[in-house]
Amino acid sequence: MKAVIPAAGLGTRFLPATKAQPKEMLPVFNKPTIQYVVEEVVNSGIDDILIITGKGKRTIEDHFDKSFELEYRLEKKGKTEYLKEVQSISNMADICYVRQKKQNGLGDAISCAEKHVGDEPFAVLLGDTITYSKTPCTKQLLDVYEKYGGSTIAIERLPQEKIERYGIVDGTLMEDNIYKVDNLVEKPKLEDAPSNLGITGRYILTPDIFDKLKEIDAGVGGEIQLTDAINEQDNVYATTFEGTIYDIGNTMEWLKSSIDMALTYDDVRPEIIEHMKNKINEY
Ligand code: G1P
Repeated sequence: MKAVIPAAGLGTRFLPATKAQPKEMLPVFNKPTIQYVVEEVVNSGIDDILIITGKGKRTIEDHFDKSFELEYRLEKKGKTEYLKEVQSISNMADICYVRQKKQNGLGDAISCAEKHVGDEPFAVLLGDTITYSKTPCTKQLLDVYEKYGGSTIAIERLPQEKIERYGIVDGTLMEDNIYKVDNLVEKPKLEDAPSNLGITGRYILTPDIFDKLKEIDAGVGGEIQLTDAINEQDNVYATTFEGTIYDIGNTMEWLKSSIDMALTYDDVRPEIIEHMKNKINEY
């Protein structure tokens, strides 16, 4: 299976940090956001990745490329740990890139993957969203896909204030945490939302999505919406997953993700906790 990572969005919500760098390259504790996404793909057993980029996204390609000069210098200075780390990033997976020519929505970005993906189901992971879980989120989705066979979407229960920013699922519960999707609504008004189950940015899609993307009209925001194309597919499933998801395009979630990721390191945790205790006392 192949994975597609759309990373062409502007990052407006994170200005000015994203004025001259892609939001996907913002560090979460010690790694750029998109490295977590690529690691999720690899840890789910997929090693063929297509990243959809756009204007101003070249540092993403540089990050996953081999850096001869840096490696040479690290080797000369005997910095073996850093050298290994840097080499592992460029050896992680086969990564190809295609540029979305015009900002015309997530659906349009996914259309750019048609030639690379062909007639096979594929995974989609939004490049500005990271997940933290024991079993990678995409692997959990694949398990549901293997059982039911249709396009499968990861969802989470949203608090009211977030509903208007997400695609929302209207579904029928099939078994624990798995819904058959009856309808999807992209960014509804709170009063029109069919549930509080929000699409989180992880999908397994069957290849008929490419035809559906050609058939649909522009939706919310005048853009081609992936949600609208999935709505045209038969047999779509949605599942909550075990773990946490962070939308890095949102400054507060980015900050929380950095703290949470730092806390996963045994050698860093005590210092962070100490710091937070001091801050709590201070405020
Ligand atoms: C996209 C999808 C939306 C989904 C969201 C998750 O919206 O269109 O359905 O809920 O990602 O982050 P965007 O955030 O690109 O506007």
